[in-house]
Amino acid sequence: MREGDVMDGTTPAPEELLKIAVEVAREAAETAYRMRAEGVSAVATKSTVTDVVTAADRAVERQAVAALRAARPADAVLGEEYGDADGAGLAGGSRVRWILDPIDGTVNYLYGLPHYAVSLAVEVDGEVVAGVVRNAATGDEWTAVRGGGAHRAGRRLGGSTETDLGQALVATGFGYDPARRAHQAGVVHRLIPYVRDIRRFGVASIDLCLAAEGMVDAYYEKGLNLWDHAAGGLVAVEAGLRVDGLAGTGPGPDLVIAAPPALFGPLHEHLARLDAAGGP
Ligand code: IPD
Repeated sequence: MREGDVMDGTTPAPEELLKIAVEVAREAAETAYRMRAEGVSAVATKSTVTDVVTAADRAVERQAVAALRAARPADAVLGEEYGDADGAGLAGGSRVRWILDPIDGTVNYLYGLPHYAVSLAVEVDGEVVAGVVRNAATGDEWTAVRGGGAHRAGRRLGGSTETDLGQALVATGFGYDPARRAHQAGVVHRLIPYVRDIRRFGVASIDLCLAAEGMVDAYYEKGLNLWDHAAGGLVAVEAGLRVDGLAGTGPGPDLVIAAPPALFGPLHEHLARLDAAGGP
């Protein structure tokens, strides 16, 4: 069920792909944690001066891509630091693509805050079918298989049962571009009177998993990349949350909203009113 499934056109079972994902994510998380203990500094900046990349981001991505290559040589890999590792999508003819954020929460990592994750999702024919998010500092690990539920430590996740947005704890995040942040701060400023409170943890993939677990009631953010939300988004969906953009556009760079069905409508209404998907 490795190269053979590519040759004969069968679809690999999502459970099998999850097993590989978990193995690769655990090894990657170990490397991230070890490199953090050895000391870390920003080696370069990306989109803005506050958008850093560390040597560990790159090393962890290289390691994970090599492990995926060893397990499933024909598959494509989309990684945060190196982009599409195949250069041209499904170069090997496989129907499978891996989507990797080697260290989500790079700023937390830089500061030694124990809240950063390896996020690894796997798509078959363009649909995410399995994913794992592992907090590399604590070992907390969330997994999901499409149609098979979301789990942490053997427990099936079901999201929050809160039905009143006014009582909801809502997580969000900010991009790196100053103009975008200003717009996002304006949205938070005008949303906070209508919710219990706001949380900003700095790791989109874990935010989605916390929403899946009901440790926050809902989450939204503009400007996410696929590697930020592919795995955590499936965890949230499999926990029964609705994960979508504005007006049913699907989760994407404009907006990702994750909320239990009872909260989704009211939160969506506020975010639409506040132009949360707008601005730079
Ligand atoms: C960032 C984190 C952060 C979110 C940003 C992301 P990175 O990812 O997930 O929580 O607010 O939008 O870019 O840069 O740490 O991999």
